Amino acid sequence: MRLPSLYVLVTLVGLSWACQPGDLLEVIPSAGTVDYLTGGCGHEWVAFSSGNSTAALSPLAIKAQVPGDLLTDLQAAGHIGDPLYELNFLKSAIWDQQTWTFTTNFTVDIRQVGLDAATPNRLQLVFDGVKMGAIIRVNGKVLGTATSQFIRYTYDLKPEDLRAGNGANKLEVVFDRSIRVGGRFMACSGGWDWAPYTNTMQEDATTFSYGIWKHVYLIYTPQGSASITHVVPHVFFKGLYPTQALVDGQHAGFTVKVKVFLSAPAATNGTLALLPSWRSANISRRISIPAGGSNHTLEVQADATEIKLWWPIGMGEQPLYKLGVQFQGDGQTVPVTQTSRRIGFRYFALVTGNDTDPAYVARASTEEGTESMGMYFRINGAAFWSKGANVIPMEELEGRMLGEAHRVMVRSAAHGGMNTLRVWGGGIFLPDEFYDACDELGLLVFHDMMYAQLGHAPERTSVQDTELRHQVRRLSSHPSIVIWDGCNECTVTMGSPTEIYATFVMTVVAEEDSSRSIWPSCPAFGWSTGVHKLDSLPNGNPLTTPGKSRTIEVHGYYQHGNGFPAMNGEIKMYPFKANIPIKVSTESTGLDHPNIFASEFGAVVMSSFESMAPTLAPEHWGLHGGQQSDTCEYDVHVVAHNQCQGSNVMAQRNYPCDNLINAYFGDHPDSYFNMTGEAIFKQQLYQCMLSQALILKTDIETRRSANQFGCLVWQLNEIWPTGGWGSLEYGTPVKGQVLGGRWKPLHYLFRRSLFADVMATCGLDGQCYVKNDSPRPFWGMCSVTALHFDGHQTGLFWLGFDLPQGPGVKQLFKVNVSNMNGADYILRSECWPTEVREQGHAITAFGASMENVVSFNEILMARPADLRLPAAKVSATVAPSPNEDGSIDILLTADNTALFVTLTTLAHGRFSDNAFAMPPGKGKARGFTAL
Ligand SMILES: *[C@@H]1O[C@H](CO)[C@@H](O)[C@H](O)[C@H]1NC(C)=O
Ligand SMILES: *[C@@H]1O[C@H](CO)[C@@H](O)[C@H](O)[C@H]1NC(C)=O
Ligand SMILES: *[C@@H]1O[C@H](CO)[C@@H](O)[C@H](O)[C@H]1NC(C)=O
Ligand SMILES: *[C@@H]1O[C@H](CO)[C@@H](O)[C@H](O)[C@H]1NC(C)=O
Ligand SMILES: *[C@@H]1O[C@H](CO)[C@@H](O)[C@H](O)[C@H]1NC(C)=O
Ligand SMILES: *[C@@H]1O[C@H](CO)[C@@H](O)[C@H](O)[C@H]1NC(C)=O
Repeated sequence: MRLPSLYVLVTLVGLSWACQPGDLLEVIPSAGTVDYLTGGCGHEWVAFSSGNSTAALSPLAIKAQVPGDLLTDLQAAGHIGDPLYELNFLKSAIWDQQTWTFTTNFTVDIRQVGLDAATPNRLQLVFDGVKMGAIIRVNGKVLGTATSQFIRYTYDLKPEDLRAGNGANKLEVVFDRSIRVGGRFMACSGGWDWAPYTNTMQEDATTFSYGIWKHVYLIYTPQGSASITHVVPHVFFKGLYPTQALVDGQHAGFTVKVKVFLSAPAATNGTLALLPSWRSANISRRISIPAGGSNHTLEVQADATEIKLWWPIGMGEQPLYKLGVQFQGDGQTVPVTQTSRRIGFRYFALVTGNDTDPAYVARASTEEGTESMGMYFRINGAAFWSKGANVIPMEELEGRMLGEAHRVMVRSAAHGGMNTLRVWGGGIFLPDEFYDACDELGLLVFHDMMYAQLGHAPERTSVQDTELRHQVRRLSSHPSIVIWDGCNECTVTMGSPTEIYATFVMTVVAEEDSSRSIWPSCPAFGWSTGVHKLDSLPNGNPLTTPGKSRTIEVHGYYQHGNGFPAMNGEIKMYPFKANIPIKVSTESTGLDHPNIFASEFGAVVMSSFESMAPTLAPEHWGLHGGQQSDTCEYDVHVVAHNQCQGSNVMAQRNYPCDNLINAYFGDHPDSYFNMTGEAIFKQQLYQCMLSQALILKTDIETRRSANQFGCLVWQLNEIWPTGGWGSLEYGTPVKGQVLGGRWKPLHYLFRRSLFADVMATCGLDGQCYVKNDSPRPFWGMCSVTALHFDGHQTGLFWLGFDLPQGPGVKQLFKVNVSNMNGADYILRSECWPTEVREQGHAITAFGASMENVVSFNEILMARPADLRLPAAKVSATVAPSPNEDGSIDILLTADNTALFVTLTTLAHGRFSDNAFAMPPGKGKARGFTAL
């Protein structure tokens, strides 16, 4: 260690905060002192409007929240109602037809800046995020213009522009709609086929709210020191390409290349040091830095004996290691600048060839581009089944955005059996809390860059170059992020306008990060050049893409809703048939066979009554929203115009559910969907949510019988309290909503069987299969029982299985159902490991005891409309006091067989299971737990 002796002392003073606000904090530039100018730190902000006589708007002054957004401030000040209530999002004049200026006063610490000294310390004003199109002024002087929602803006404050005195400096952020922003903001702002369509435009793209959506702060950098603007740790595996799971302590280890970006007020000499928590020796280097920005790369090793591997959930643990970074300028009184990141050690490969063949591995290790045998993932040598969903932003009203909601959403994904989340490109680079939770819980992230059609296509500009580099550096430490992807569905074709994704977007990303797999688009055929063939890591060559090749990654099938004149879907009813029972594929499965990765597929769905009712007037509680007066013109992809303006509120709320309900629950007349009222709306929404659950259940079970190693559902979450495609509801805890999103029935099915590593199901003609998609062998039992609606049960199958390690290990078997009518029973399958064979296992009155089975599956042999179910009465009693772990028991009683018993509550949390079958009798389980 070659650090000055002063080192230990100054560490204690290091980075300090005048005040540390809690939520939505980003990794920030590190310097002498950071002084937040935002909420939680006593800073008052006021938003002033210009007024507009043409639009009959008088000037206003309201209290503003920073971080936040204007619409949330307007609602808090009582000038508008909840923007998501009824059609409030269309009443846009107040935010759309005048200029809003956010202001605050701030105090400059004269002592810190040394305003009186000959060489004062540097003071900078930093915005982590402004959305967007805003001029930034201090004491009347323009510092710059923020044009991208995804850039961190940093401005030097010159001594001559600052004033001494308490609150003597005035900061103004002027949102001017005439500023050209080139679409650099959340593409789904102001409308997508699951987000409310506003009539607010920013150039040629729809928009909605705006404001200072992240923190604002001052940073002081003393003379002779430097600020650290980014720490970029990249983790490289040192061994040969592994095709078997690496074992702790017995692999080649890792090299961590840490690029540190510094910014200094003046040229300085000093010592840059890395303090890795996994080894005792620090790494340090004497460096000379120029005035302004510079970067230095230091390397530190991580031997197999020093660290434990980071694994996705279900494959191992998620150890995280702290990596400290310090810069100590040479002067005697110069304080140290320090920061840290958390990293994890894993080697990820996006595989497209036949790497079960050693000859291929040997050959491909020196080749570049993409193969066409399939697409699957390996981590630390272990191939695995990637299962999960696509994430959209949790909010369009940034002032409601909560870091904690992101954490809970990730936890729900993990509890639902998922191990992969794709961050979809029409949204935002998410708050740090999302990635932190993924690191901690072992969720892998397949991350798009934020580009979409509809006014958000890429352009080779310095703004976009800055944005890409900033975000890739900002997120670089997260072991959960394993793939950088160019865009959503942009079909990158060389020689066409879309080649910009290869030649600009992903070229910049690859320059910044050669430690992660890259992919042109989701979906794509991959690359011709520019990546190592075995793992798709950048190799430094230009990125080019092939023409058409074998399809290895797919989007779809999507079930859209229709049957009612709405913004999305079609007026005409397109009936479809429920795929019950499924047709089980008997094709061979395994990594050595051609395969497919499904990165999007899904079905539309509404949310629960609890979620939807608070943003609808009671007379509109019905799938058709009560009296439909105006006609809407159907045009699904034109979002710039509001076809249903001034009309029915449900027409604005995403897809109709008519066709789904009819497919599963039998043909209902228009008059049924036209009905309104609490009871009928609850029934309609229940049917709609079950229809989505059943479509996806049959879809995923069919996929799992075929050779697919990726299964990412469209989509995980909702952006407002209505419908969309999610298995989780809107997750902002406003009225009726659960923090992080209430689970819809589908999410319980994911947990129970669809995303269980070992699962059994049955289809047509009693053809069944058990599948081991875990990376470990399965030694255990599976059983299949018929639950007859008259209440009796018959065992049909019971067998021990010794399945080799997955993914992709399938064993077919048959049950004899030839003398039973599918309308009179359901099948229940269970699998449990040998260890618990002795302890026995018990199906509780409502579903499996999740502690000892690996999966529990309820299988319909006919669609719900055709079942001959008796009338049943189900009652529930909630235990008067919680259990020790905080969960609350619920006692259920059924007098006859009941299917899809679904509980709901306004409380924050989830049930142990839901949408389950109950034979007559009583049952009790740990019913409800906080998420
Ligand atoms: C003022 O209102 C008129 C009419 O609504 C609109 O055309 C104009 O763009 C508005 N001006 C500003 C600055 O928003
Ligand atoms: C800033 O200071 C000025 C002058 O004292 C005062 O009028 C104004 O209300 C202050 N603004 C805020 C946001 O506190
Ligand atoms: C840094 O060190 C070099 C070599 O000793 C010296 O030439 C240079 O003047 C120093 N720079 C500063 C800013 O002290
Ligand atoms: C990092 O520093 C090197 C060497 O000074 C320089 O060539 C390069 O442009 C810098 N990279 C970035 C991204 O600033
Ligand atoms: C993949 O390689 C294995 C091992 O060599 C071989 O058995 C298998 O047939 C190959 N698969 C394909 C599709 O070529
Ligand atoms: C349902 O409402 C639609 C739209 O208002 C109307 O055209 C239709 O006649 C209604 N159907 C019935 C059966 O009431």
